[in-house]
Amino acid sequence: MDKQKTTIQFLMEHADKRPVSFHMPGHKGASLYRRLGYGEFLDKFMDCDITEIPGADNLFQTEGILKRTQERYAGLYETDRSYMLINGTSGGIIAAILASVPAGGKLLMARNCHKSVFNALTLGNIAPVYLYPELIEEYGILGAVTPQEVQRAMEEEPQAAAVILPSPNYYGVCSDIRAIAKVVHRHGKILIVDQAHGAHLKWLGRGTGPVSAEEAGADIVINSIHKTLASFTQSAVLNLNSDRVDRYVLEDKLQAIQSTSPSYLLMASLDINADILEQQGTELMEQWQGNLRYFYEEVKRIPGIRVIDNLENFDYSKINIDTGLLGISASELENLLMERGVFAELTTGNILMLMTGIGNQRRDFDTLLHALRDIREKLGNRERDREPGKPGAAAGGNAGRAPEKKEIFAIPKAKQRLALERSEGKICASSIIPYPPGIPLICPGEKITAEDIRYIRSLRAGGEKVIGVNENGEVTVGA
Ligand SMILES: Cc1ncc(COP(=O)(O)O)c(C=O)c1O
Repeated sequence: MDKQKTTIQFLMEHADKRPVSFHMPGHKGASLYRRLGYGEFLDKFMDCDITEIPGADNLFQTEGILKRTQERYAGLYETDRSYMLINGTSGGIIAAILASVPAGGKLLMARNCHKSVFNALTLGNIAPVYLYPELIEEYGILGAVTPQEVQRAMEEEPQAAAVILPSPNYYGVCSDIRAIAKVVHRHGKILIVDQAHGAHLKWLGRGTGPVSAEEAGADIVINSIHKTLASFTQSAVLNLNSDRVDRYVLEDKLQAIQSTSPSYLLMASLDINADILEQQGTELMEQWQGNLRYFYEEVKRIPGIRVIDNLENFDYSKINIDTGLLGISASELENLLMERGVFAELTTGNILMLMTGIGNQRRDFDTLLHALRDIREKLGNRERDREPGKPGAAAGGNAGRAPEKKEIFAIPKAKQRLALERSEGKICASSIIPYPPGIPLICPGEKITAEDIRYIRSLRAGGEKVIGVNENGEVTVGA
């Protein structure tokens, strides 16, 4: 990394390269707004950066323009209420959990939940009870949380007040939310779905793909509009569709954990996204779906490029390439794509994930296909020896590895920082989180194993960011 570069220099140079984005955010740059008729907003960008002047409403007590935007979302998602979030889905998740689980209570949660869920546990003094997702052996990635797993956990922990799980997960695997909602509601509890990666599910591939968690009956659903739709990074929407949650408590938690100076630029971009969906949503979704269909057809013709294309209840707007047949790792493919101006979202082991969004155009898919053909040609025939059905390296990855069912110990009160290498057998006191995908590999209260240490070392050696290991290579454990 060039240490001399400033943030703004980096951003300007990156923009000048005109990169093809298959990562967040979903708008993929200014051209979407300009094409669809919102260029004037971009031209007046700084002048729109205001605070709560008269007439501008207040996010935490909406009565005017912001209320109207929120009502647009409630209409679009067909829910009782929608709340704009300016701290991303992360903020919505924390507020939803604090509103659903009493302090000191228990939460049933998928072990592959995002770190914001773990942060909510700390803030609310809440104890986790883990639901373990399945492993999809063929690709070595984490699969769905089954209704049976939820049923088992609910019987074991009748005290738990709520259930939370991500759907889709980072790769696109969706859980059967309709069936899970039935189980949760039969027990009189609250179902929260982290739909950070599926804000588009209500519209994209309607009738053929997974249904949105709103339609499937979840009580609270949180959507990162910025990840796949057309608003700015950090803007999101929480949908409340239930009487099981006290809305006043939820609203209180939302104001407690978000900035008291919510950005009107973020909220305006949410309003623009609502406008886009209302005015041009059908056409844009058809184009997006058509481009995906085109890509999946074309990519089949490139030998050695294997994509996930055979899973049910899967969000195919996430393109997952299994690099096993290419004889290179996902991060090597990421670099080769980057050299060709294409930027991916996530790599774990053998799986490279490209996140498409509402702003991607046919030419982006063509550039990607062209780059893949070129890479394949340059690499030649280096098919890797891999036993069919055996998970690739991604299975050893964090999100790719079915989280081990570990014994949960009390979170240590007395803490120390210790070199990672010397931490075997110690109880973790602060989450260790490879980022992305931001799912804790080791949670507070779990024992660190020799295998964990080996894996974290390999991630760091590969240049990946691991939050929870400081610049001196130390982790926080029980003293
Ligand atoms: C599964 C999952 N949930 C929640 C979040 C947080 O979303 P946001 O970036 O909108 O805060 C992320 C972020 O990547 C995520 O991957």
